[in-house]
Order: sequence, then structure tokens, then C-alpha cells
Amino acid sequence: MRIIVVGATGILGSTVSARLEDLGHEVVRTSRSSEVQVDLADPSTLDKLFATVSDVDAVVCTAAHAPLKPLLDLTDADFRQVKLDGQLALFHRAVRALNDGGRIVLTAGRFEGPMCRGAVGAMVNAALESFVENARAELPRGIDATVVSPGWVSETLALLGRSGGTSAGVVAQSYVEFVVSGGG
Ligand SMILES: NC(=O)c1ccc[n+]([C@@H]2O[C@H](COP(=O)([O-])OP(=O)(O)OC[C@H]3O[C@@H](n4cnc5c(N)ncnc54)[C@H](OP(=O)(O)O)[C@@H]3O)[C@@H](O)[C@H]2O)c1
Repeated sequence: MRIIVVGATGILGSTVSARLEDLGHEVVRTSRSSEVQVDLADPSTLDKLFATVSDVDAVVCTAAHAPLKPLLDLTDADFRQVKLDGQLALFHRAVRALNDGGRIVLTAGRFEGPMCRGAVGAMVNAALESFVENARAELPRGIDATVVSPGWVSETLALLGRSGGTSAGVVAQSYVEFVVSGGG
């Protein structure tokens, strides 16, 4: 299969990409700093991506974060989030570009209950899950989509000097299983 991974330089994206390559799939690794450059904040880069990379069986997105910000510091701009808008723009294009039976995996996230400074992040996560849950029924040509909603990833917590969480390898397995369930 040929699989585009957006966010491939990150903790989850690099792990998912490596797992897929280990299984013998071709991964087109993208992000703002990758050789194949994509910026979720600039939809024209998504158009360019699908114009130059063809015969795609799956698209995985593990890119961008919503801000953790105190409620009273939020601005109007904070309610327009690239993690949400960018993944929807990617989804919209992937549905048209993917091969029959293709797979789309977006990334949300999961908080353990209401979290201080988490209002925008929780909104973005819920919106992504709700969008894909409802859009699935209308996907054409055997295409299917899902959202992975990880809790804290161990490697991220380690960077913050904390322990616990789920390893990136375990989280990556959810992406890989859904991708390889496709028809490509
Ligand atoms: N790690 C966790 O504990 C955790 C828990 C729950 C949810 N999540 C979610 O999982 C996703 C991935 O997390 P992660 O820990 O792997 O993040 P990460 O290590 O910070 O990686 C983020 C990736 O996104 C790319 N990126 C950022 N902005 C972009 C943009 N505008 N366009 C294209 N690519 C962009 C980055 O590369 P460039 O800088 O080169 O663009 C990088 O490849 C995020 O949505 C995060 O909110 C993570």
C-alpha cells in the first residue's frame, strides 16, 4: 500500500510510519519540515500533495496540537484550530483522491475528565470524533475513516519529566490495524 502520513516527524507519526514500513508498505512522510512539505494551515499545500502523489491507499494524520490555555486568555483566533480545520481539509481531499477501499485516520485525543486549560483541546477532539462518526456513512467506494484518540503518550510524558501513559508503539498499533484493513 502507499500511505501518506502527515506529522511524520512527530512522536506518533514517526512510530506509525516506521511500523507501516516494517510491514512492507510505502510511506510518504510529510510535515512542514519534511522533504515532502505539507502545512495543515495552508490548504494549497494539501492540493499540491494530492496532485503530486498518486495511487494512494491511505492517509494518516498525526499533525498539530490544540493549545492548552487558560480560559480567560483565549482569543477569537484560538477557536479556529489548525488541528481541527487542517484535518478536515485533509479528510475532504483524501476522500476524493484515495483509491477504492482507502483508509483515513485522523488524530484527536482524550482527557481524563474536564481539564483545566483544556476547553479548546476538548472541543477540537470532540468535533473530530463527531465529524468522522457521522461522515463515515457517506464515504464512497469502500473508503472508511476513523479517529484515534490517545491519552497521554509515555514518550511525551518522559519529555515533560513525568512517567506513565501508553507507549507510542502501542498507540501506533491502532493506526496500523485500521490502515491495513483497507482494500489497497
Ligand atoms: N503525545 C501525546 O501524549 C498525545 C496525547 C493525546 C493526543 N495527542 C495528539 O496526537 C497528535 C500527535 O502528537 P505527537 O505527540 O506525535 O506530536 P509531535 O511529536 O509534536 O508531532 C507533531 C507533528 O505534527 C507536525 N505538524 C505540526 N504542525 C503542523 C502543520 N501545521 N502542518 C503539518 N504538520 C504539522 C510536526 O512536524 P513539523 O513541525 O515539521 O510540521 C510533527 O511531525 C497531536 O494531534 C496531539 O494533540 C498526543
